[in-house]
Amino acid sequence: MSNNSDNIFDDLDDLDKVDDHYAEHLAELDESKDVLSSNDIVNTKGVLLCKKGMHINKNTAEKLVQHKLSQPLENNIMLSDSIDAAMLLEKLHQQLDTYQDCRTIHDKMAFEMLTKKTFMFTRLNPAIIQKLTVINEQMPEQLDKAVFCAWLSLLIAVEMGLDKDTRQQVYLAGLLHDMGFVHLSPDILNKKGALTPEEWRAIQSHVVIGKLLLEQYNDIPREVSQAVLEHHERCDGSGYPANKNDTTLGLIGQIVGVADSIYAIRTKQFERHGRNMYDLLPYLQMNSKTHFYDVYKALNSILKFSGLKLTLPQHANISEQAKNLFVRSQALNHAVSALHQCNILDMADELSSNKDRSLYKISTHVMSMSNESGLVGEDLHTWLKQLASDPDPQAAAELNEIELMLNELHWQLKNASRACDESLDKSEASAQTQFKLREAYNTVSLSLGELEEKV
Ligand SMILES: [Fe+2]
Repeated sequence: MSNNSDNIFDDLDDLDKVDDHYAEHLAELDESKDVLSSNDIVNTKGVLLCKKGMHINKNTAEKLVQHKLSQPLENNIMLSDSIDAAMLLEKLHQQLDTYQDCRTIHDKMAFEMLTKKTFMFTRLNPAIIQKLTVINEQMPEQLDKAVFCAWLSLLIAVEMGLDKDTRQQVYLAGLLHDMGFVHLSPDILNKKGALTPEEWRAIQSHVVIGKLLLEQYNDIPREVSQAVLEHHERCDGSGYPANKNDTTLGLIGQIVGVADSIYAIRTKQFERHGRNMYDLLPYLQMNSKTHFYDVYKALNSILKFSGLKLTLPQHANISEQAKNLFVRSQALNHAVSALHQCNILDMADELSSNKDRSLYKISTHVMSMSNESGLVGEDLHTWLKQLASDPDPQAAAELNEIELMLNELHWQLKNASRACDESLDKSEASAQTQFKLREAYNTVSLSLGELEEKV
């Protein structure tokens, strides 16, 4: 049933086919700062759409998106107060001031000089500067992420002993990996609440759009656009857009992929609980096969060298924590068991089409992760139960590690559940297989929903 195509976005092979929303972002930005046309903007038939010196406001944007332009829009735009290399470096320093654990790593690795040189001397062409400026104004968190990923990716590259040219490519890929977002619809990007499967597909297309955009520029090495395309791919084939595996993936995309995941954990999950980068170790252990092993090894040694320590929750009540983890581990195990019971592992052939392969890979990824982490099974439950009734202060560090691992398993199950919602509607599998999968993922969703209500 599988076809020859390897990529769910194979139809998106040219920028002309992109449903481009960049003009809308410019129009939104024009409400707060001047966004003007630097030349007459014409379509491919020579029809004048916007005269030189005009504001790119909502009306103009609406007109522009209906036409195929004679040149990329960014070639004809003038922005006031563009971002520059010094501002990117300043943004990094602000983050290092906010995240003292990152500052500790930065200082311990004596990373300032190389960071400064790389940030200041890597040339960014005017079109890229313009897009980074729009991202900074429209979605500042995205620029924070870009700067963090550029920094962490570079740090990993240095620890891996990569040469100067490759390090520079790693920096650029880290900085530009999500540039495709600025061409997606603001309505989808700003949507509150759950996205529909079509909206998820649009979000996922950012990797292909990013690659196509960067390929237009002669000064961007091929390795960088390839890394942008691959930063959501995973070694076991559970990523997107092409479910590639470690035999076909490039190194830089994997470095950036790790940095990207870590930004989300550091800023969203750890921030709320006062955790630090050293708490990533259990996450890395669980994901040691998700990305290239050498990337994990490098990050592991950076964290161990940093002198940081695992965070112990303040005023931890061992008994309460053990009880809480018992409830969580039972619910997550129930969810994983549902996947085992529907025999997904026997569905490999039936779920081999482009439309189904992703769900198969993501499901088996979460199943093997839960097995290998030791989070499945009676031993853990018995131990947690014992601790709940007879709390042992010596167990605090171990409990903390288990909490971090359960967080990761929880996130992976949520991701798998979302992948199921996204793919089953267009599945090519038999009705019986689809039914079994739906049943299993209903159980997963119910378990996660009940758990989220309880804790
Ligand atoms: Fe991304």
